[in-house]
Amino acid sequence: MALQKVKVAVLISGRGSNLQALLDAATDPAYPAEIVLVISNIAGAYGLERAAKAGVPTLTIEHKAYPSREAFDAEMDKHIRAAGAELICLAGFMRLLSKDFSEAWNGRMLNVHPALLPSFKGLHTHRKAIEAGVKLHGCTVHFVTPELDDGPIIVQAAVPVLPDDDEDSLAARVLEQEHKAYPLALKLVAEGRVRLEGRVAKVAGAADPGNRLLFPAG
Ligand code: GRF
Repeated sequence: MALQKVKVAVLISGRGSNLQALLDAATDPAYPAEIVLVISNIAGAYGLERAAKAGVPTLTIEHKAYPSREAFDAEMDKHIRAAGAELICLAGFMRLLSKDFSEAWNGRMLNVHPALLPSFKGLHTHRKAIEAGVKLHGCTVHFVTPELDDGPIIVQAAVPVLPDDDEDSLAARVLEQEHKAYPLALKLVAEGRVRLEGRVAKVAGAADPGNRLLFPAG
């Protein structure tokens, strides 16, 4: 019998490389989620082309056309539900969401953030990491709550910060890991292996990564 896949809507604002990672993962018949709708708040966002190429329906809902954050979110909500989506993935979606929308999708909406949360919330995370002199940086996939970049953490991937890194080189190293971490996190959630205990997301049956991440390594 064919696998019953969890239906997912992806919200984007731009180039959509994380969307692409999710679309690619979803081509595997054994992957437990399928992308049923991609919404962009920016007309002409490159991610829309990626979705179209993958045969996924797209919508442009420009936030500027709505009188309030709530009205914009309600319009997205209507289309997401009409598409039958059970989960939402934010993938480079550059709009804050209203409290109502975040709460309505509590535990069912994921985001990828380009830093090891709770460090470096908000924008310019790679610059902040270099300025802080951290030796490990990375990305986080987390559930979305009304507070920015603050929800329960599902998956994190760490990368070294090399002595000669600038924002671009560090961003590229982190982005490569985002493309692995996001499909993994969505898979874990779609498989029902992630359970919320208050602020903490507990993941069942996670593979053993060994017991340290060390950089510099000696
Ligand atoms: C990613 O770095 C993501 O972590 C951040 O915005 C960027 C979006 O990139 N939220 P893309 O549109 O997925 O290529």
